Parts: sequence; structure tokens; C-alpha cells
Amino acid sequence: MTQDEMKEKVAEAALTYVQDGSIVGVGTGSTANKFIDALAAMKDRIIGTVASSEATAERLRSHGIAVLELNDALKQVKQLSVYIDGADEFDGDNNLIKGGGGALTREKIIACASASFVCIVDASKQVKHLGAFPLPVEVIPMAESYVTGIANSLGGNTIRREGFITDNGNIILDLHGMVITDAPALEERFNHVPGVVTCGIFSHFSRKGDVVLMGTPTGVEVIEG
Ligand code: A5P
Repeated sequence: MTQDEMKEKVAEAALTYVQDGSIVGVGTGSTANKFIDALAAMKDRIIGTVASSEATAERLRSHGIAVLELNDALKQVKQLSVYIDGADEFDGDNNLIKGGGGALTREKIIACASASFVCIVDASKQVKHLGAFPLPVEVIPMAESYVTGIANSLGGNTIRREGFITDNGNIILDLHGMVITDAPALEERFNHVPGVVTCGIFSHFSRKGDVVLMGTPTGVEVIEG
């Protein structure tokens, strides 16, 4: 099975977590795109979706799937039933690195506003310790130098993502060369740095994967958090 086929399999498997009459949070990236394409087949059974990026909203609408603003959705329901999205890495506790596509802030907000987070990945995303994938951190532009100093002191080789501005008008700093043995502690540390909007670690301090559906050459493995 190719990597693309593995992504399709986990996207289809994620449909079983979509409840009739619910509002579904939808992530960003190539695996989330496969989920959007699969969701089109059951679009009439859900109220609609909340999108984690402009690109995702556009793809959902292209399939005729309703897209709601999160504020409007939460006037109708207390929580979204499920958030479905990919990840750049996941470890043995279902802690994640996200933000390779730069949508980490909206992704984290919607994941936290959902009753559960089903993470869909291919087997290449499984790691012992997070950090081989550069850790994205969304930062308010005027804080770039300050946050870079902090990030470097935490062991990162911090590089600004050139030519990239988030949907929220901020910059992304990518922290290269980290070996993250305590993902929750690092997420919590960044949560206390002024100028940081969102750190790309998704641990129990925000929302780790409640379930990771991992595509392997032989099928879909279900990994409970
Ligand atoms: C987007 O900002 C990211 O968090 C994505 O979820 C992540 O990069 C996974 O993308 P792929 O499914 O394309 O690997």
C-alpha cells in the first residue's frame, strides 16, 4: 500500500467516528483533505463542519459540505462531537506535533472545543520522542526576537518560516533539532511565554489524540490515548 493509500484508509476509517446530526471539526493537510473527500458521501447526515483553515473551508465548500464559524456552532451545540485531523508526529502517549501546514492555532482551538480528537496518520508519523519534525510555534510578529531567544535556550535551533503568515496574521518559528522527552512540560512552558500564540505540541495541557488511526501497509491500527 502506498502512503497515499494509507491516508485514504485512515480517512475512511475516521468516518465511523462521525455521528449523525452532529457538527464535525475538520483539520488541515493532505490527510485531512482525504477525510474531507470521504465526508462528502455523508454530508446530508451532519449539521455541518467547522474548518481549521481557509484552505479546508474552501475544500469542504467545494463538496457542498456546510461550514460554520466556531462561535455559531457553539450556539447550537455545547461541544463539537469530534475533531478529525492529521499530525506531523505522534509519540507513545498520543502527544502530537502539529502545525507543519501552519494552521496550529485554529486546529488547537477546535480540537479543544470537541468532545474527542481522532488523529489520522500514516505510519511514517510514529516516533519514540517528538522533535525530529521541527516544532512550529505561532508568534505575534513583534515578539519574534524575544521568543527566538527563549526557544534557543530550550534547545531549539529556531528558524522563522520565510514568506509565511498564518490565517491569524502571525509568523511561525520552527524549532529544529529538539529531542522532546517531556512533551506536556514543553507545551506548558511555551504557554507561559508572552508573544507565543500557540505551540505545536498537542498534549494533555490542550488536546492530545484521544484516538490515533495509523495507516500501515497491512491496514488501519487503532491506538487509544
Ligand atoms: C497543519 O497545520 C498540520 O497540523 C497538519 O495536520 C499536519 O501537517 C499533517 O499534515 P499531512 O496530513 O499533510 O501530513
